[in-house]
Amino acid sequence: MNKEPIVIAIDGTSASGKSTNARLVARALGFVYVDTGAMYRTLAWHCLEAGVNVDDPRAVAALCRRWQTTLACVDRQVRLLVDGYYPEKEIRTARTSEAVPRVASVPKVREWMKKLQRSCLQFGSLVMEGRDIGSNIFPETGFKFYLDAALAERSKRRASEGVEENLAARDQRDSQRAAAPLMIPLGALVINNSALTAEQTSGAILAEIRRRLAEA
Ligand code: DC
Repeated sequence: MNKEPIVIAIDGTSASGKSTNARLVARALGFVYVDTGAMYRTLAWHCLEAGVNVDDPRAVAALCRRWQTTLACVDRQVRLLVDGYYPEKEIRTARTSEAVPRVASVPKVREWMKKLQRSCLQFGSLVMEGRDIGSNIFPETGFKFYLDAALAERSKRRASEGVEENLAARDQRDSQRAAAPLMIPLGALVINNSALTAEQTSGAILAEIRRRLAEA
């Protein structure tokens, strides 16, 4: 493959299979996997731990400025560390989930995240999943995908993970925020995977990547 690092951008609605498919695609290509939702979750957790009010955009932005962040690449996955610690379990609690959209809607936070997320190229070619990867973080990449599935199917998937969540409300909040909202990036292949398995979805993504690489 190319010598220049390649970025595969996978965006989409909540519970549309972004993480599962991004992992499968990264493994198949031998690329590094980046879960940007986990990065926002880590920031939210850090704010809560540091006693920073997540509803105060200035205070959250100030914490970002002060924070001596470190990115680590472990088992081909990027982690954002807090004083050398990766809060793997803590970022999945209801308390953190509730705080994330508040910090993720702060424009200064998104600027700060953009630098950090682009710096992941230091680890090599990437499969990066999130809400604004193709539209805002790596708009120049030729490999953009947008996943979606019917709301009933997505709610069923979340429920099977033991999580009851109002996905429609979350998607609406992600789509309507002023800073880097969730949208279908220009040039993205849209895949509705309501009736597809993860193997079929990731297979379609891989086939398209190979087609575009052959064309390039
Ligand atoms: O994908 P997730 O559920 O772990 O994302 C957590 C939150 O972060 C969710 O509210 C959307 C937000 N997010 C974002 O605004 N931009 C991203 N690139 C990734 C996640």
